[in-house]
Amino acid sequence: MRTKYCGELNLNHVDKIVILCGWVNKYRNLGKILFLDMRDREGIVQISFNDSSTYLFKKATCLKNEFCIQITGIVKERDEKNKNFKISTGEIEVIALKLIIFNKSQSLPLDFNHKSLDESRLKFRYLDLRRPHMIHNIIMRNKITTIIRSFMSKNKFLDIETPVLTKSTPEGARDYIVPSRIHKNKFYALPQSPQLFKQLLMIAGIDRYYQIAKCFRDEDLRSDRQPEFTQVDIEASFTTGKKIRNIIEKMMKYLWKNVLKVNLKKFPVMTFDTAIKTFGTDKPDLRNPILFVDITDIIKEIKTELFFQNNIKHDNIAIALRIPGGSTLSNSKLQIYNKFIKRYVNKNLFFIKINGNPPNQNIVSSILHLFNTTTLNKLLNKTFAQHGDLICFVCDIKKTVINAMNNLRAKIGNDLNIIDKNSWKPVWIIDFPLFSKNELNNYISTHHPFTAPKNKNHLTSKKKLNHILADAYDLVINGYEIGSGSMRINDIAMQKNVFDILNIHEKTQKEKFGFFLQALNFGTPPHGGIALGLDRIVMLLTNSDNIRDVIAFPKTTTASCLMTESPSKLDINMFYDFKKKFN
Ligand code: AMO
Repeated sequence: MRTKYCGELNLNHVDKIVILCGWVNKYRNLGKILFLDMRDREGIVQISFNDSSTYLFKKATCLKNEFCIQITGIVKERDEKNKNFKISTGEIEVIALKLIIFNKSQSLPLDFNHKSLDESRLKFRYLDLRRPHMIHNIIMRNKITTIIRSFMSKNKFLDIETPVLTKSTPEGARDYIVPSRIHKNKFYALPQSPQLFKQLLMIAGIDRYYQIAKCFRDEDLRSDRQPEFTQVDIEASFTTGKKIRNIIEKMMKYLWKNVLKVNLKKFPVMTFDTAIKTFGTDKPDLRNPILFVDITDIIKEIKTELFFQNNIKHDNIAIALRIPGGSTLSNSKLQIYNKFIKRYVNKNLFFIKINGNPPNQNIVSSILHLFNTTTLNKLLNKTFAQHGDLICFVCDIKKTVINAMNNLRAKIGNDLNIIDKNSWKPVWIIDFPLFSKNELNNYISTHHPFTAPKNKNHLTSKKKLNHILADAYDLVINGYEIGSGSMRINDIAMQKNVFDILNIHEKTQKEKFGFFLQALNFGTPPHGGIALGLDRIVMLLTNSDNIRDVIAFPKTTTASCLMTESPSKLDINMFYDFKKKFN
């Protein structure tokens, strides 16, 4: 039907006859001449109808935006003065010889030139996807998956599909469940990840597996989280965590080079402990220059209940941030930050402004009288305070302070525009604790229960469980957790030991993971892997700040699809009629 895409045409096609199929993007009837901007997946080209006396011209006057049409025409170079160098087809136009209208269009419920409401965009998603920006993201996603597939294939990874109707997989979210028609009162769970299947594939001797896999998690959604998302899921045998990190690093560099023509440097490696101490998070955005400084010891020397109560507890800390250039911030702005921090901690944020250099330093703060020269100097030295800086700090229990200051760090970094938005800062985070505690003070896996400890002997004593490190690694880029993986337990006794620590009793072990525990008995190779969030990779590579912009048919933050109106009520009678018929 077509010989070329609109967006492909350029001076090389001059004097060629082309057939184009697409949509009317813009329409200008100047009386004697009529211009169309015609759009397809690859871009926009100008079509002109030059002879107002013809039937063809008359037919073209009936066109409206978004009509679906076919144009046969001849490509001509535009006059120099009419060339538009802003678009790739701007040096040529197509003189129409024939027009077919495939389908008319009502006026769209979306406004392509202005920001439409998110609800309308999702309700009429097929129209929203017509926008060049959205088509671009979809094309990029295809490019990215093609590059990943080619890289994995070159490195001898086999692409293998795993089941979608399966059993619960423990990744920490709630499952989506599917009732079985044939088996009364029984349910399938949709996979939160293919974790156990990929481990079983290693036991099967597949050696190197990957899959671009759909995963389903019923959890609270946010700008980088969807209930139905895609992982680049990877597993390999007879390897080490370091080797897996190396191959993933190679793949990410290959992607960035091929998609953005950017050469990423070697990814730095940081321990979980350092990440929390320096940035207050295990997903640090290293583009933000603001760092945490632990000033607990200095603040504890100051005898005032303003900072810590008299009975300072062992988990009380004081964390300061040094904000370069922050001394010029107005008091009203500082009060905004004080208000902001109250979302996370029920304490005040204290400020110290530094102007000038010693010995003529001018320090301005409402709490200055509480410091003596020694404590003040200690504070200025420890925070590396310089002329023009603002030091702010908060004191409270460790967990609360870390969370509050992590959020404040990100907010101030964005507000002051000190985050270099054009740079790429990947980092590997390693040495996570194998276990953490939940709100009920029970042990949970920091990653998942199949993660191997770094030192296998540590698990046997069941002592100091908090101190056991996992052989796990997360890949973080510009503050996004892009991937997470680990070496796995390949020994049934150790696996059962972990289940015991997690309070997963024998009966539940058997019910939930019996098939897997059994498999571990049959010559399980040492193995490990990782899963990368494909949607998040596409977000980074398309500079999108919402995961919905890189998924063709995404869900809202309340996990519904406004277009199909799902989830929807089930016709329960119909479901049971089916059941009767087959039981
Ligand atoms: P994890 O649960 O950390 O690990 O997931 C791996 C990566 O998947 C992405 N991701 C998500 N992306 C969008 N929406 C979501 N709801 C969502 N949840 C996770 C993140 C994350 O880093 N089986 C293990 C991997 C392994 O051990 O090999 C797993 O699924 O980018």
